[in-house]
Amino acid sequence: MASVSTTFRLCDQRPPSLKDAFTEALTVPPLLATMLHSMIEAWPEEVYAQPSVATRFLGKRTTFVCEPALIRSLLVDQADALERETFMLRALAPALGRGILTADGAFWRGQRRTAAPMFRPDRIRGFVPAIAAAAEAGRARWQAAAAQDAREARGARAADILPELMRTAFEIIVATMISGDSEMEVGPFGRAIDDYLSQTQWKIALAHLGAPAWVPHPGARRGAAAARFLRQETARTVARRRARGEPGRDLLGALLEARDPETGLGLPEDALIDNLLTFVAAGHETTALALAWTLRLIADRPEVEAKMLAEIAGLGSPLAETPDGIERLTYTKQVLLESMRLYPPAPLIVRRTTAEVRLGETRIPAGESVHVPVYALHRNRGLWDRPDIFDPDRFAPALQASRDRYAYLPFGAGPRVCIGMGLAITECLVVLATLLPALHFIPERAEMPEAQFRVTLRPRGGVPMRVVTRHAG
Ligand code: HEM
Repeated sequence: MASVSTTFRLCDQRPPSLKDAFTEALTVPPLLATMLHSMIEAWPEEVYAQPSVATRFLGKRTTFVCEPALIRSLLVDQADALERETFMLRALAPALGRGILTADGAFWRGQRRTAAPMFRPDRIRGFVPAIAAAAEAGRARWQAAAAQDAREARGARAADILPELMRTAFEIIVATMISGDSEMEVGPFGRAIDDYLSQTQWKIALAHLGAPAWVPHPGARRGAAAARFLRQETARTVARRRARGEPGRDLLGALLEARDPETGLGLPEDALIDNLLTFVAAGHETTALALAWTLRLIADRPEVEAKMLAEIAGLGSPLAETPDGIERLTYTKQVLLESMRLYPPAPLIVRRTTAEVRLGETRIPAGESVHVPVYALHRNRGLWDRPDIFDPDRFAPALQASRDRYAYLPFGAGPRVCIGMGLAITECLVVLATLLPALHFIPERAEMPEAQFRVTLRPRGGVPMRVVTRHAG
């Protein structure tokens, strides 16, 4: 892990001296290279142990907030003094425009209010049969591939499990948010998201260096084509729904019916596309990552997997028939939470201050960058015992209750907390409960895949595993 030599403590507000600036200039090329590889590796070492760290990060003054009480103070108590950070907007807005994830202020609030009813617990419970159906379809595809391998008398071939999980998660979003009537094709859509995300680290690095958005960079053309494709596909989905003549009782329907409380006008076409695309993209990529990391982690821990299997077997009837069974998957949920501790699909929360922010005794002026390094928070040595060890018992109810809520932030916190949190957890539990009793996931390599920052936390080289049916396993 690279550490930054110009790091100084939070209380140190002095401007950099000439010597600091010179030292900093020398760190730029290696830091840039590290950042392009994975931004997490460019974080200063101190973010894993200190309450907060103020640093100049590629010339920009940045404060990492790493302590639960300070994080709460920032993201909850002073949320009104924060907005989306420009470098994240540079990375995301070409595809997502100014939808709920990227907008700020009143425009964001209106969009959040429109979407919120879709994510009420009773609504999510109602989605369980559709989620289970998508998970069963994924299971059947894996079973068919395993049967074919057996027919051809060869062992199961190792393949990256992420694309199949992306497909399942995508189908779930389409089924729940767009009532399954979309003709969006998961293959091209998923590839476009991969193409788009794989060049975002360049946009982030160039924004840090103060380069204008038009500066060319590797992958820029492919990224722009991917953004165009994603937006066109989403626009077609909206047009198909409009052609039906009635909005529908799903997220797309809610977006089509939303009215500005002051003007009474509906959302402009661009805003419709921004939001629908945001929900489809943010709603399936993260969930598939959580599932992939979880399946890979438990593959090394047969006793954890056995306990999950026993719990799932204890449900008796399929979740599609008894959605309330989800509540009984308590150990499986612990496993999921622990997996998202070690591999949070959204590993960084960033904001820009719009007014002075106070963190304890320290004041951060308006216009500065504040980072909550979730990946580091979840591995902070002061907060977690043996932080690098996978141990689902950390999330046993008693231990969880004794922990500061802001020590664990896979879904963020405050008014911008993930709106899809309940859906994501339900979805992961249903998918695990559907796949695990039928399929055994065996890793191709002994070591865990390298975790790489690409706005989300992606496994470098995928998660290659052999998938065999249990009775044959
Ligand atoms: C395991 C899965 C997921 C993880 C780890 C995750 C994580 C997060 C995090 C950390 C944020 C806050 C970002 C910030 O504060 O800057 C967020 C926001 C958001 N998430 Fe999720 N998410 C997941 C699944 C979902 C799902 C299933 C949906 C929708 C169907 C969704 C939709 C959104 C949206 C729209 C926002 C922006 C909310 C706002 O700014 O008001 N996410 N997510």
